[in-house]
Amino acid sequence: MTEIAYPQTLSPLSRAEILEKMHHRLDDERFNHCVRVETTARVLAGRFGVDIDRAGLAGLLHDYAKQISVKDYQNLIQTQGLDPELLNYGRGIWHGLVGVWFIQRELGVSDPEVLQAIVRHTTGDPAMTALDQIIFVADFIEPARDLPGEIAAREAAEHDLLEATLIELTNTLTYLIDNRKVVYPKTLATYNALIKR
Ligand SMILES: [Fe+2]
Ligand SMILES: [Fe+2]
Repeated sequence: MTEIAYPQTLSPLSRAEILEKMHHRLDDERFNHCVRVETTARVLAGRFGVDIDRAGLAGLLHDYAKQISVKDYQNLIQTQGLDPELLNYGRGIWHGLVGVWFIQRELGVSDPEVLQAIVRHTTGDPAMTALDQIIFVADFIEPARDLPGEIAAREAAEHDLLEATLIELTNTLTYLIDNRKVVYPKTLATYNALIKR
């Protein structure tokens, strides 16, 4: 197998340097999940005609900021003029939306499509592109996932990216409502937009 390498235009750091930085931010379990999402995203990108390196890099970095402390996030939201409404949510929401702040500064990644896919992987977006959907789905169907909804989405993703995205959205919303958890409004808007596509 040839080593994965990312062009300078997407990442000023080499993949080995990125992995090194990821080890400082993530425990081994989360780190390994990110590498599996990278591989899965590259396969999906090849299948659905999306730029493989953009998908791979976004997959690799999608959870880069997942383990940054709540305090650091709260400070950032308050000092960088971000929407104070964000303080009502937690790291589950922040690590995409706000997490790209760390990815830009610590890794120097600035490609707008890569950053957008990372932003959107936690909440979805009514205007999700194919790349956005690939990262969203890759996160859900990487090989370690084995719940029934995850298996159904993996099967759908063999041929239909939108169907896989909808299976994931339906699962996530059902889970949130069954467990009386708050639904981020954009996630519901994403579901409404995608069932009409
Ligand atoms: Fe995530
Ligand atoms: Fe993830």
